Amino acid sequence: MIPETAPKEDVYVASAKFSKNALVPSFEKYKEMYMKSIENPDEFWGDIAKDFFWKSKHSGDFLSYNFDVTKGEIFVKFMEGATTNICYNLLDRNVHEKNLGNKVAFYWEGNEPGDELTVTYRELLQKVCQFANVLKSQGVKKGDRVSIYMPMAVELVVAMLACVRIGAVHSIVFAGFSAESLCERIMDSECSLLITADGFYRGDKLINLKLLADDALQKCKDKGFTVRKCIMLKHLSKEIEEGSQSPPAKRSCPDLQQEGQTGRVKKRRPVPQLPWNPEVDLCWHTLVKGASDECEPEWCDSEDPLFILYTSGSTGKPKGVLHTVSGYMLYAATTFKLVFDYQPDDVYWCTADIGWITGHSYITYGPLANGATSVLFEGLPTYPDVGRMWEIVDKYHVTKFYTAPTAIRLLMKYGTEPVQKHKRDSLKVLGTVGEPINPEAWQWYYNVVGEKRCPIVDTFWQTETGGHVLTPLPAATPMKPGSATFPFFGVVPAVLNESGEELEGPSEGYLVFKQPWPGIMRTVYGNQQRFETTYFKKFPGYYVTGDGCRRDKDGYYWITGRIDDMLNVSGHLLSTAEVESALVEHEFVAEAAVVGRPHPVKGESLYCFVTLTEGVSFCRTLEVELRNLVREKIGAIATPDYIQNAPGLPKTRSGKIMRRVLRKIANGERELGDISTLADSSVVEQLFQNRSCTA
Ligand code: WT7
Repeated sequence: MIPETAPKEDVYVASAKFSKNALVPSFEKYKEMYMKSIENPDEFWGDIAKDFFWKSKHSGDFLSYNFDVTKGEIFVKFMEGATTNICYNLLDRNVHEKNLGNKVAFYWEGNEPGDELTVTYRELLQKVCQFANVLKSQGVKKGDRVSIYMPMAVELVVAMLACVRIGAVHSIVFAGFSAESLCERIMDSECSLLITADGFYRGDKLINLKLLADDALQKCKDKGFTVRKCIMLKHLSKEIEEGSQSPPAKRSCPDLQQEGQTGRVKKRRPVPQLPWNPEVDLCWHTLVKGASDECEPEWCDSEDPLFILYTSGSTGKPKGVLHTVSGYMLYAATTFKLVFDYQPDDVYWCTADIGWITGHSYITYGPLANGATSVLFEGLPTYPDVGRMWEIVDKYHVTKFYTAPTAIRLLMKYGTEPVQKHKRDSLKVLGTVGEPINPEAWQWYYNVVGEKRCPIVDTFWQTETGGHVLTPLPAATPMKPGSATFPFFGVVPAVLNESGEELEGPSEGYLVFKQPWPGIMRTVYGNQQRFETTYFKKFPGYYVTGDGCRRDKDGYYWITGRIDDMLNVSGHLLSTAEVESALVEHEFVAEAAVVGRPHPVKGESLYCFVTLTEGVSFCRTLEVELRNLVREKIGAIATPDYIQNAPGLPKTRSGKIMRRVLRKIANGERELGDISTLADSSVVEQLFQNRSCTA
C-alpha cells in the first residue's frame, strides 16, 4: 500500500511555488483522495461526473464487475444506463456552457516550420458537426465501425470526433503501418468506411498514404471483404477552391495535379499522382462543402462502444482493444487534469501520434474534455534540425510537455547546445510514457530540458488501461528517476509471484491490478475469449498487465519490462510472433525466432534469427529482402536491426525455442545460465560464431 509519509531522501520534489497552486498540492492530499477513490469509488467518480453533461442519469449500480474467470464471464460496467455523448462533452459543453468558444483548441504545427493553423473550440465544433453530417449522409450509423488512417492533421481529430458524435466506433490505424496491417485491422473490425489523406511528409520523406490505403482496400477485396467508401482529405494539396466540383470520374484526382496553387502546407513539395476510383473514393472537401454545421449528437449509453484500437498480441494477431463511453471519458479527463496539473492558461503539448493510445487519451479526449489548448505536431523531433522541439516550445509558450524516453535519448545524443539555444522558460511539467525511462535520460530531461524546475511525471499505462495507472502527481509525489511511483486514483496494484501469491513490502514479480478503474478496456473486439485468456486467466481475480515490476522499501513501483513475448521498440509494443510470421513468409526461410536486444535510443531493437530452407545460403541480398518484407508486412517501426543466419535454434526436447538463450546470444553474453534442457547444445556455439557481423 501507499506509505504513511513520503520518503525524504534520494527523491526530487516540486518547488513550494509550484505546489502552492497545484490541484493536488501534497502527498497527504494525494493519499486522502486515493483512499476515498478505493473505498468509495461511487462517490469519488460520481463527484467528477457532476462536471459533465448527462442526457439521462445512470440507473442501478455505479460500478459492477467480475475479475475472476472461475466465477463466470469477465466484465466491467461503469455508470450503466446513463446516456451522454463524448463529443458533446468535449466541444458543445466547452463552447456553450463554459464560454470557451474562442479559446484555441489546437495550434497545428506542420512538418515544415512555418506551416501552421489555429483552431478554436467553436471552429472545431463546426468542423466536427459538418463531418458528422457527411458520415451520416454516407450511411454511417450508430455502432458502425469506421477506420481512420491519417497523418497528424486537425482533420484527424475532426474525423474521430465526428464518429463519436454519431455513435460510430472509430478504429484509428497509425499512418506508419503498412497496407497489410491496415487491411488486417479493417477486416477484423469489419469497417464499412475508411478515412484517409493524399499523403504527408515525415521530414524529407513523402508517405503516399492514399496509395497505401488503396492497396489495403484491394487486399481486403481479395480476401472477400469490401469497404464501401474511402474519404480522402487533401492534406498535401490545396483545400478545394470555391465553386469547384468533386473530382470527376477519371482515373486520377485532377485537383491534386494543378500547378501554382497555394495550399495549407506552404512550402510545397511534389504531390503524388493519385489513382481515383469514382465508385469508392470521395473527396473530403467536396463532401464537407454542402454539409450543415449543426448536428444533434447521438445519445449513447455509458457502456456503448467508443473506439477500437489495435495493439500487438503475443500470438502475432493484433487485438482490437475496445473502450466504452463514460468510464473512458472520465478517466482520460481526470488523469489529464491531475497528472499534468492542468491550469486554464496552460499550453500543453503531447508529441505522440494520435494513432497510438497516448494520442487518443492525451491529445484528443483528455485535453479537450478539460477545455485545454494543445499543440498538434505533425513533424519529427530532428527535422529540420534537432532543436525543433524546443523551438516549438518557445513559439507557443508550452507549459506542459509530454514525450517518450526514446525521443529524449535521441536528443541527448546531440548534447545540450540545441536545447539551450532556446529559452524553454514557459515549461512547468514534463512527462514521459511508453517504456521505462533510464535514470540517465531522466536526469538529462530534468536538468537540461527542465532546468531542475519542472517535475517529471513518468506515466505507466497501456492501450488496455485507457489512461495512466501508475504515475506521480507533479506537486504531490516525490520523484525517483526511473520509477512510475504510485497508483492513480481508483487503481489497486499488486505484485504476484509465479504461484499467484500477493507479495508484501519490497518485492519483485508480476504487476497486476485487483479491481477495475473507469478507463479499463471492456473486451477484445469480437473476441471475449481472447480478452479473458490474455488478461485474466493466468491469475484469477486479477488484471494481468504483462509487465514485471519491483516495489521498493518506500512502496515505489519500478517497471522492469515485459514478461511475455513482446518487445518495446521506441515505445511501441511489437510481438515477436508477428515479426516471425512475416519472416517465414519468405520462401527461403524455414523458421524464425525474434528477440529484443537493448538499444541506446530505441530501448529495444529487433534481432532476428532465421533458419533457411535446405540448400539456400545466407547473403546480403537475402538480408535486405527480409528486412523489406517485415517493413512491408508490418510497417517501418518493425524493421529488424539484425538478421542472423541460424542453421539451428536452441530448443528444448519438447521443441520450445529457448528465447532466453537467444537473447544472450543477440547481446553477445556468454553467461547462459542453465541450458541443461537444450536438446542439442552445439547449436549455441554455432550461433555465437554466426553472430550478425553488425551486432
Ligand atoms: C506497455 C504498453 C501507454 C501508452 C504507450 C504504450 C510499457 C508504457 C511505461 C512507463 C515503463 C512503460 C509497458 C506497457 N510502458 N509506459 N512509464 N514505464 N513501461 O502503450 O503500446 O499499449 O504499451 O508499454 O511495457 O505494458 P502500449
